[in-house]
Amino acid sequence: MKSSTKINPKQAAGELAAQLVKNNMVAGLGTGSTTAYAIKELGKRVASGLKILGVPTSYQSAFLAAENGIQLTTLDEHPVPDIAIDGADQVANFAAIKGGGAAHTREKIVAQSAKKFVVVADESKVAEVLNHPVPLEVLPFARKLVAKQVAELGGKAVVRMGINKDGPVISDNGNFILDADFGEIKDPESLDKELSQCTGIVEHGIFTKVDVVYIGKKDGSVEIMES
Ligand code: A5P
Repeated sequence: MKSSTKINPKQAAGELAAQLVKNNMVAGLGTGSTTAYAIKELGKRVASGLKILGVPTSYQSAFLAAENGIQLTTLDEHPVPDIAIDGADQVANFAAIKGGGAAHTREKIVAQSAKKFVVVADESKVAEVLNHPVPLEVLPFARKLVAKQVAELGGKAVVRMGINKDGPVISDNGNFILDADFGEIKDPESLDKELSQCTGIVEHGIFTKVDVVYIGKKDGSVEIMES
C-alpha cells in the first residue's frame, strides 16, 4: 500500500507567510481559505508565546482569529499595521484581483494601511495578464448606474447572487457585489483609476500595490517574489 502525504499548496503558502509576523507586530488578517491557514498558524505561534495584535478584514477573519486565540485590534487604535497577509483570486506582476469572498473593501483598506502587503496563493492563481472578473462593492442604490459605467469602460457587470441565501450577496458593509468582466486587463493601474472614479462603487478588487507574493506549489514548495 502506498502512503502519501498530500501537501496543500494554499496551506504551504499561508503557513510560511505567517512566519513573517514577529513578536509585538500588528498584522492585518486577510479573508479566504489561504489566509485561514496563516491565521491558524499564527494562532499556534500565539499559543507558544508570540505576542501580536490582528486587524481583521472581515467577520470571517475576526471569528477565525478569535477562535485561534489572536487578540484583535482596529485601525483606529493601530492605523499602520506592520504587515498584512491576504489571499487573491488572481495575481500577475505584483497586481492582484481580490474580492471572491466579497471582502475586498476592508482588505484594501488594511493592505494600504500596512507597511508591507503580502499575497498568499496557490499556483492556480498566477496569470501572465489579469483576466479574472473584477469584484465591485456597490451601493445598492447605484446598481444600475454602476453597470452602465462598467459597460462604458468596456466591461460587463453582473450582480453576485448568494449561495444558501436567496437574492444578492450582501457584503460585511451592507452593500451589493457586482462582478465585472473586462476580459484581459493589460493595464491594471489605469482600470484601477477608472473604476475608482465611478459613482456608486465603494471599492473595487484590483490591487496594484502588492509587495510580496507567496505562491504555494503542488510539490509543497513555496515561491517567494518581492517587488
Ligand atoms: C476575499 O474577498 C478575497 O479577496 C479572498 O482573499 C480571495 O478570494 C482569495 O480566497 P482564497 O484564498 O479562498 O482562494
